[in-house]
Amino acid sequence: MAFRLNGVGLAYANGFDALKGITLQAAQGERIALIGPSGAGKTSLLSVLGTAWAPTVGTAEILDAGDRPRSAAALARLRARIGTIHQSPPIPGRQRAVTAVLAGRLGRWPAWKSLASLIYPLDIPGAGAALDRVDLADKLFARCDQLSGGQLQRVGIARVLYQQPDLILADEPVSALDPALALATIRLLIADAEARGATLVASLHAVDLAIGNFSRIVGVKAGRIAFDLPAGEVGIPLLHELYAGEGGELPVQAHEPHFLSQAAANDAATRAACC
Ligand SMILES: Nc1ncnc2c1ncn2[C@@H]1O[C@H](COP(=O)(O)OP(=O)(O)OP(=O)(O)O)[C@@H](O)[C@H]1O
Ligand SMILES: [Mg+2]
Repeated sequence: MAFRLNGVGLAYANGFDALKGITLQAAQGERIALIGPSGAGKTSLLSVLGTAWAPTVGTAEILDAGDRPRSAAALARLRARIGTIHQSPPIPGRQRAVTAVLAGRLGRWPAWKSLASLIYPLDIPGAGAALDRVDLADKLFARCDQLSGGQLQRVGIARVLYQQPDLILADEPVSALDPALALATIRLLIADAEARGATLVASLHAVDLAIGNFSRIVGVKAGRIAFDLPAGEVGIPLLHELYAGEGGELPVQAHEPHFLSQAAANDAATRAACC
């Protein structure tokens, strides 16, 4: 089991209920795309999965650690097994790419090694190999505040590739990349998770990217799960319903040119199966 959320609610400090009655579970190794309109609760859901927020209602069992580890040490051990790719990576501007990537394993290393690594990077070849996978080998010693938004986003991805976590939580991981690079990067993340048997949960703005590459699609709307279906069963009407408040436009980025015909075929298949 990768995670099991049972009746999870999340209320922020101002009293706003961002998540309501979320029940969702995944087996280890599953790859899930979260889609839904802006403000639906995708980041909030990923924050609960990543233990940044504890549910205010219900239970969240992550990576067999039970509902909320009791001690700070147990929570730190759990977090070391979770890799988060943030939409805007929280990387200090003065940090160099090599250090930002090596930070992926700080939670696993003993304190002396973590401290030493901050002063002098201890595994430069490892960081270089991870950056090479996102095509940034030449930026190994670049300062993060001198990288473009898309390059910085790929440094965040390289950090998680280097970390090798059991659970990868990716919050709009390719939002700053052009369509071709976004597709290649999503495929890289999927291939990495597949090769290591890791679980991947990614929130994606572009529905074509989600449906074209993930087997399981979870639609989130107004803090609730709107649907949880195999990609082959997500058709156009369902998507229009999910994004009904967004002016009827589906957020696609033409990563997958055949997306619309594929989703229409899903509709036809569903009709054939049910009628
Ligand atoms: N720290 C916070 N305090 C209060 N409300 C918050 C906080 N963070 C998020 N919210 C609210 O919770 C709701 C869900 O936000 P969340 O960031 O999870 O949505 P999202 O689906 O990730 O949206 P987007 O696609 O724009 O990233 C929104 O209405 C948002 O305004
Ligand atoms: Mg978000």
